[in-house]
Amino acid sequence: MTIIRSTLDTSSETFRDGAATMTANLAALDSASAEAVAGGGEKAVARHRQRGKLTVHERIELLIDRDSPFLELSPIAAWGTEFPVGGSIVTGIGQVSGVECLILANDPTVRGGSTNPWSLKKMLRAQDIARENRLPVINLVESGGADLPTQKDIFVPGGAMFRNLTQLSRAGIPTISIVFGNSTAGGAYLPGMSDQVIMIEERSKVFLAGPPLVKAATGEIADDESLGGAAMHARVSGLADHYAVDEQDALRLGRRVVARLNWHKAGPAPRGDIRPPRYSPEELLGIVPSDLKIPFDPREVIARVVDDSDFDEFKVNYGSSLVTGWAQVHGYPVGVLANARGVLFSAEAQKAAQFIQLANRYDTPLLFLHNTTGYMVGKEYEQGGIIKHGSMMINAVANSTVPHISVLMGASYGAGHYGMCGRAYDPRFVFSWPSARCAVMGGAQLAEVTYSVSKASALAQGKPFDDEAATMQRDLIERQITAESMPMFMSGRVYDDGVIDPRDTRTVLGLSLSAIHSAPVEGTDAFGVFRM
Ligand code: COA
Repeated sequence: MTIIRSTLDTSSETFRDGAATMTANLAALDSASAEAVAGGGEKAVARHRQRGKLTVHERIELLIDRDSPFLELSPIAAWGTEFPVGGSIVTGIGQVSGVECLILANDPTVRGGSTNPWSLKKMLRAQDIARENRLPVINLVESGGADLPTQKDIFVPGGAMFRNLTQLSRAGIPTISIVFGNSTAGGAYLPGMSDQVIMIEERSKVFLAGPPLVKAATGEIADDESLGGAAMHARVSGLADHYAVDEQDALRLGRRVVARLNWHKAGPAPRGDIRPPRYSPEELLGIVPSDLKIPFDPREVIARVVDDSDFDEFKVNYGSSLVTGWAQVHGYPVGVLANARGVLFSAEAQKAAQFIQLANRYDTPLLFLHNTTGYMVGKEYEQGGIIKHGSMMINAVANSTVPHISVLMGASYGAGHYGMCGRAYDPRFVFSWPSARCAVMGGAQLAEVTYSVSKASALAQGKPFDDEAATMQRDLIERQITAESMPMFMSGRVYDDGVIDPRDTRTVLGLSLSAIHSAPVEGTDAFGVFRM
């Protein structure tokens, strides 16, 4: 056992200042989350209830095992866009009849549960998570289909939703749809592509075209029930496999279907010796300084996240800007890569590449804790081969087949974001702390680069250079880039799976690792050519 010895000074000004900033950011996150939970607003929810319907969160709560957690994904999707926060759909991982399932549930109170570009991104991300981690999928369907005014952004890419469902099925991952209301046109293929379908008496409506469209297309006069009601589908078309009398009954039937899947997780079970960290997770609030230029020791984070604060470091004296080592989270072994002083040098990149190879040999998932401004620039470092070495690290992370989880704690800039397994490198899950910043580079640096480039360009062409205007422009750009690198903005674009309270990190990682172990955990020895 190698217990981390914490030297955190919780009475320091840096800690208190960091905690105050984090608390303020968490309050902003809370209000965004509350906006998502409020769905379409009081009026729409009241109308929904008057119709005797459960809200989307109530449906999920009744579906999952009593008092079990629900790991909600992308809860503030669409934040910072013109669409309602949440993306008109709730997605997440919950346990149903003892089986971890990926749940996708339309929120019918938001524009009739119609799918806008952000709902689509969120759905496709959830389906990816189901596929990569082998999680059975349960769709709680009640949607007006495509958000018609923005159909141009979703109609063509939206086809993937249905393709994914049948491909999940082909991969042996069960897919179930419970239809609570409308599932029209394209939406009809959600139940159509699912392995098993539950419909509700006088509630479910599944047809390719509703009565007005049928009349216009063929002249036929038909009513909702005979075109696509639950009774018709259960007795005549055969699209419904199970006929429920009300919403509660449908959720009960959903739980029975899952109970009969005979589902087994394919990954190794957690080890039994699970001890909490020896230091309080409350202290995670103040570890990241409010000024990201001030470095912090990620071992202080690791000490408050991993089992028993037990961490065996690898290459402790080499490439010290990157901490690497082995630990366990809720009984699951992990290899940790954590940035220490922001910049990645050649030594850090080589150390990371070797460590990632080792994790693949040992079939051990990897946890990336981001606080990096990227790879070191400058003549000395270019001549020392920083491009080759950074490429080695990116090669290792891109080809590694053990599951990866990324947590953006602080900066996650430039190619450092890629080397540390940013979103494009397919981490199984990626979460951000409210203190994270993610962009091609920091706002001030980016603004300075655009200022210098425009000045050099004007001078080269012999044109006059208006320094005052360019300086104003620089400040504007800095503000824009800083705003766009904030975690709520990134999460709104579904570039992560959620912004989390740092104090919840261990719980979120435990739930993620448990979901990950639904699939086999297998490393590889096949990487691209490492340029030495
Ligand atoms: N795109 C954009 N907005 C939609 C929408 C869609 N597909 N479906 C519904 N909405 C909006 C409505 O305009 C309304 O907005 P408002 O509150 O600003 O007036 C809100 O969602 C609620 O719709 P409403 O019809 O009042 O709710 P409802 O519960 O009585 O009916 C539906 C819901 C989904 C059955 C009904 O709206 C409907 O049939 N929509 C169109 C379905 C369709 O043909 N989709 C195309 C499929 S590809």
